[in-house]
Amino acid sequence: MATLTTKAAVQHEYGPWEITDLELDDPKEHEVRVKFAASGLCHSDHHISAGDAPVRLPVVGGHEGAGTVESVGENVTRVKPGDRVVCSYIPACGACRPCSTAHQNMCVKGLNAGTGMFLDGTFRFHKDGKDYGGFCTLGTFSQYAVVSEWAVVPLPEDIPFEIGSLVGCGVPTGWGSAVYAAGVRAGDTVVIFGAGGVGSNTVQGARYAGAKNVVVIDPVELKRDNAKTLGATATFADAKEAHEYVAATTWGQLADHAIMTPNAVTEEMVSAAVMMTGKGGKVTITAVGHLKEKAVHFPAGFLIGYQRQIRGALFGDCNPLYDIPKLLGLYRAGDLKLDELITRTYTLDQVNEAYRDLVEGRNIRGVIVHEQ
Ligand SMILES: NC(=O)c1ccc[n+]([C@@H]2O[C@H](COP(=O)([O-])OP(=O)(O)OC[C@H]3O[C@@H](n4cnc5c(N)ncnc54)[C@H](O)[C@@H]3O)[C@@H](O)[C@H]2O)c1
Ligand SMILES: [Zn+2]
Ligand SMILES: [Zn+2]
Repeated sequence: MATLTTKAAVQHEYGPWEITDLELDDPKEHEVRVKFAASGLCHSDHHISAGDAPVRLPVVGGHEGAGTVESVGENVTRVKPGDRVVCSYIPACGACRPCSTAHQNMCVKGLNAGTGMFLDGTFRFHKDGKDYGGFCTLGTFSQYAVVSEWAVVPLPEDIPFEIGSLVGCGVPTGWGSAVYAAGVRAGDTVVIFGAGGVGSNTVQGARYAGAKNVVVIDPVELKRDNAKTLGATATFADAKEAHEYVAATTWGQLADHAIMTPNAVTEEMVSAAVMMTGKGGKVTITAVGHLKEKAVHFPAGFLIGYQRQIRGALFGDCNPLYDIPKLLGLYRAGDLKLDELITRTYTLDQVNEAYRDLVEGRNIRGVIVHEQ
């Protein structure tokens, strides 16, 4: 039933992205076909090519995108053809147990994120008799994709698609990691590991929540300089220097929060983060680690004596339907800097160059602008 051909960046085996033409089905019940205008280049897609994300192959990359609904399947009520939308990498159906208990970031409809299979057990991208999944059941590194209606959120007319793409993952994930998952409060001291596409928004979230000290650790000067423009009060190239500063600045009480948004979280970083938090302190882990390495590994007494907490965070605990419009409202009001996050735009054909730029520290966020 393939009804159109779409150009996409795919992984057939872990390594560089390959540009290829795929066949794309019509949308089925509760599904929509989106023509993408822009797609953000999140580090999570790079984890696939690095072999650090156990996803089913072949897969179409990309999980933060914005575009226009081209057609809809049966019984779609959230949007109609012609609507501008953001694709949230986390769907929110509103009816499952997490969605109905205020945990929309863990909607059960997102269970096939790593395979890209739809809930009826079939796929929408195909080539030469093979089924291709879309990462997070999206696949925004494609001109078109079929996605669940639960994964689309209307994008207001005045918001550019490039900005819309960022609020599909990196912005809510980072901002929410500080505001919701960590629960930063006025006067807190917050240490943020990694100020890239996600962490830049953690800096903004921590500042907006009222943190007194927003301390950023990032080995790349460009990221540290950028973090200062977003609200960081002090920046360091390594954790040791940051620890000394936090100890001095808080008169030995240490940080209230450490939030982990580096490219890949390691045992060394988590241990440094735990030791940098004081009594009642909390470590929030948003970044993914290397698949075969343990990252959370230290004596239990380090948690007990100071009653420290450590927890993971998915999509910054955000609710796509509530927080995407809210974050765009903050952007409109000038309280959330998003234009400043886009260092450079690329064509789909330049996806490998874009990831080289990310890995080599030249980008805060790169964005693919699809050919129209
Ligand atoms: N939990 C979620 O919902 C979720 C969602 C999106 C992304 N992620 C993950 O978050 C992480 C960050 O993603 P991103 O797109 O911002 O990546 P990024 O590459 O844009 O940013 C990572 C930053 O970490 C910095 N860094 C490298 N080594 C460091 C170190 N030793 N200490 C501190 N910083 C260091 C880099 O210089 C870079 O600025 C990735 O692991 C990604 O997969 C998680
Ligand atoms: Zn992402
Ligand atoms: Zn749900």
